Amino acid sequence: MLIRNIKKLVAVETHPQTKLSGADMATLSCIDDAFLLIKDGQIADFGKMKNAPYDNLPTIDATGRMVFPSFCDAHTHLVYAESREIEYMDKIRGLSYEEIARRGGGILNSVKRLHDTDEEELYRQASARAKEIITLGTGAVEIKSGYGLCLEDELKILRVIRRLKENTPLTIRATFLGAHAVPEKYTGRRTDYVDSIINEMLPPIAAEELSDYVDVFCEHGFFTVEDTERILMAALKYGFGVKVHANQLARSGGIQTGVKYGAISVDHLDFTGDEEIACLRNTDTMPVLLPGSNFFLSVPYPPARAMIDAGLPVALASNYNPGSSPSGDMRFILSLACIQMRMTPEEAIHAATLNGAYAAGLSDTHGSIARGKIANIFITKPIPTLEFIPYAFTAPLVDTVILNGKIV
Ligand code: NIG
Repeated sequence: MLIRNIKKLVAVETHPQTKLSGADMATLSCIDDAFLLIKDGQIADFGKMKNAPYDNLPTIDATGRMVFPSFCDAHTHLVYAESREIEYMDKIRGLSYEEIARRGGGILNSVKRLHDTDEEELYRQASARAKEIITLGTGAVEIKSGYGLCLEDELKILRVIRRLKENTPLTIRATFLGAHAVPEKYTGRRTDYVDSIINEMLPPIAAEELSDYVDVFCEHGFFTVEDTERILMAALKYGFGVKVHANQLARSGGIQTGVKYGAISVDHLDFTGDEEIACLRNTDTMPVLLPGSNFFLSVPYPPARAMIDAGLPVALASNYNPGSSPSGDMRFILSLACIQMRMTPEEAIHAATLNGAYAAGLSDTHGSIARGKIANIFITKPIPTLEFIPYAFTAPLVDTVILNGKIV
């Protein structure tokens, strides 16, 4: 397939990088008046229109339109049962995340609903969300379990994720998040629940190869640094990659713990100071920011500007979940990153594509327009500038989606 007359081909790489950090995030390499050639599901070639091949290929004329690499959304919880608008009403009335959780809402509310939903129905609901994010320009996504909190229900979620991998054109990475909250049955016995994650859940999940990563919500009222270390050590022994939910509600020590155990990402990071920034510098751990939750919970945003100015890489993800971010729209995430966290459009696009791919362990094959990478792209409607993408924040600008080289 040949895409011709592309107004701007965005995020091209001739020497592909696995991630971009600090000042390098601000320079987005683009080709004006470009072509893109796709063969066997991969990006075969690209360049200036004057050098386009004259093959007798199926052709798309992209006059006035731009071509972007698909978004890589590296943090979602999109396999959940039903929505939670009641809590939305509580939030509007002024209740905080912690207050809602204490009243039996929050994660444990979704745990009950998921327990009462059979695998088929859970798959149906999750698959509708997967289809929705495809139309919004996402081509790769990380999906976490964590609304099960017992072996049977965690397996139910991970099997649904596996079915999504098999039946959708999305590239999917699965993450086991048994340590998302302490289930009711273990109230006052958190350490016993950590034992159960390590001894009862990890072995069958590893045996069935149901997960790529293991994650822990390292936060006051959820799991301590010590719990996190125990779970990460066990996960590493089984060969899983590791991730940490860190510093969403306070400075938890989660960032330092993630770095210590070689986490591919530490996520949320609303409470990040100089100490955490220094700890992340020159490591292989990607800071993943989730501004959809800051918007929805109406809480301060993480210090993206300070992080990038200090030389760190930053990734952006949607955190699609029923409690703190019921949306998987990565373009809205770009808009929030720019206007609320003062990232430039170029930085935000890198954060939502290449750096997102890194945080999902996919940057060798996804996240930019590079020869040999999977042909996951979207073609916009006619737009005047690159900046128009985050600027026109509700306009439906994703026109044609191509995943694995095929129009979806
Ligand atoms: O708060 N940080 C952990 N978990 C998610 C899910 C919240 C929920 O279901 O209420 C979040 O961002």
